[in-house]
Amino acid sequence: MALLPILRYPDERLHCQAAPVERVDEEVRKLARDMAETMYAAPGIGLAATQVNVHRQVIVIDISEERNRLVTLINPELLAREGEQVCEEGCLSVPGIYEKVSRAERVTVRALGLDGEPFTLQAEGLLAVCVQHEMDHLQGRIFVEYLSRLKQVRIRGRLAKQARITA
Ligand code: NI
Repeated sequence: MALLPILRYPDERLHCQAAPVERVDEEVRKLARDMAETMYAAPGIGLAATQVNVHRQVIVIDISEERNRLVTLINPELLAREGEQVCEEGCLSVPGIYEKVSRAERVTVRALGLDGEPFTLQAEGLLAVCVQHEMDHLQGRIFVEYLSRLKQVRIRGRLAKQARITA
């Protein structure tokens, strides 16, 4: 297993569209394992392949406190969405920034698991937020893009300052 470097906003590569996985083979399973390890080490509750500069439709999520309920979604498709919730979100690609975003309260998603078999996930609350946030990454969308332009400019300024301090 390996820790993967995470792209940071406003890296242009975060805007790439991820391609569907054609076959769930050992290479895809290794990617998912490395992504899970990277997410747990960060620590974070979700990671999309886009964030580690792999433009394939793979997502890992674990919102449990015990960090033992890993969900891997390959080629996720949104089947249904209902309701609305506003939740404060963060992102491993936008470190230190937390902002409120409006999302569906409940979503139903179909995806392939690590065994290549399709399954359906019904999610609500935080898990639904996380699924929508990570599926956005696969489309090249980052949560801060739901905010006003002014806020986006401020966030880019703060991140540039952080990067200078770290460097
Ligand atoms: Ni994110």
